[in-house]
Amino acid sequence: MAEVSVQVESEEVCLQPTSEGITCEHLRILKRFSRCPPEAARSHAFHVFQDLIRYGKTKNLQRPSVLCVFDVPKRWFSHFYAVSVLWNGLLIALSLRSVVLGQELPVWLNETLRFLTAGSRSAAQGVSASAVLVQVLLWTHSLRRLWECVWVSVFSDGVIHAVQYVFGLGYYVILGLTVLCADALHPQTGGPASSLLSQLRWFHAAGVLLFLWASLHQHRCLRVLAQLRMGNSGELVTLGHKVPHGGWFEVVSCPHYFAELLIYVSLSITCRGGALTWWLVVLYVFFNQALAAQLCHEFYCSRFQSYPQQRKAFVPFLL
Ligand SMILES: NC(=O)c1ccc[n+]([C@@H]2O[C@H](COP(=O)([O-])OP(=O)(O)OC[C@H]3O[C@@H](n4cnc5c(N)ncnc54)[C@H](OP(=O)(O)O)[C@@H]3O)[C@@H](O)[C@H]2O)c1
Repeated sequence: MAEVSVQVESEEVCLQPTSEGITCEHLRILKRFSRCPPEAARSHAFHVFQDLIRYGKTKNLQRPSVLCVFDVPKRWFSHFYAVSVLWNGLLIALSLRSVVLGQELPVWLNETLRFLTAGSRSAAQGVSASAVLVQVLLWTHSLRRLWECVWVSVFSDGVIHAVQYVFGLGYYVILGLTVLCADALHPQTGGPASSLLSQLRWFHAAGVLLFLWASLHQHRCLRVLAQLRMGNSGELVTLGHKVPHGGWFEVVSCPHYFAELLIYVSLSITCRGGALTWWLVVLYVFFNQALAAQLCHEFYCSRFQSYPQQRKAFVPFLL
């Protein structure tokens, strides 16, 4: 049979019909071409951008091989949390020393905070109960995530970009400093820094409760994902990706990302709920996790034909 040429968005696609005429395979090729704008497909910037926003299972398999030079194993997520446990542990120790013994923060830390707050923080300023509590919650979160990365999650050979890796290493360092900066920019009126307990208010309890509830759910989600790769007696059976079921997975594709958002909301509440700096952090986590959830949702929908229709990507029943 004669070859058929079809014009798809300025691209000429040649199809060689078989004895059965145009088959499903031909339609699949046409669909692929029509979905991917040729300009974008050719653009190097497009691939680099995709490589920087995607990681793990949502990374495009058809990316140019030169980009693989920047690949770092996704299981190195554990490094982020190890850095966080050490750095935020140090900041807690310094804050407690300031609160309990009345000693000023070290000069290098005071100078860094003064620089980051454009001089708003004075060397003599103490650390509030809210800030110490947020530091402890952040440290607990990092320790749990480190433990999950090492002992719970079953990683495949998925990768992240080296830029994402370096960003992740710096993220929790910046976050620890943000706690102290937000404290300096929104000083407490609750009493002297030496009486931590007298500063405690209802919003601290509300924040801690939400933190515990969201952390518990996130942990359950990560266990569900790990169990997808294990047999009945806990042995490894596959490193592939399957459809998760149970709990919050029935309503969203990425409940652990939603739980992450709730954890940051809880930190903001613990911070008196009025610190603009913390709400900006929450906004960042919202967009970051919403994007990751949407890419993951698209991955599930394209990979599994019977993927549950009612599931949203990120926020139950909404998004
Ligand atoms: N605050 C932030 O900015 C931020 C940024 C990123 C992540 N996080 C948090 O870190 C946690 C982990 O994030 P993540 O992006 O690594 O989550 P993820 O992609 O869902 O991966 C979590 C674990 O589950 C495995 N997995 C994922 N989907 C699977 C499936 N369908 N079948 C079997 N196994 C599957 C992964 O293995 P693979 O090795 O195959 O991927 C990995 O071991 C989340 O709670 C997230 O909220 C926070």
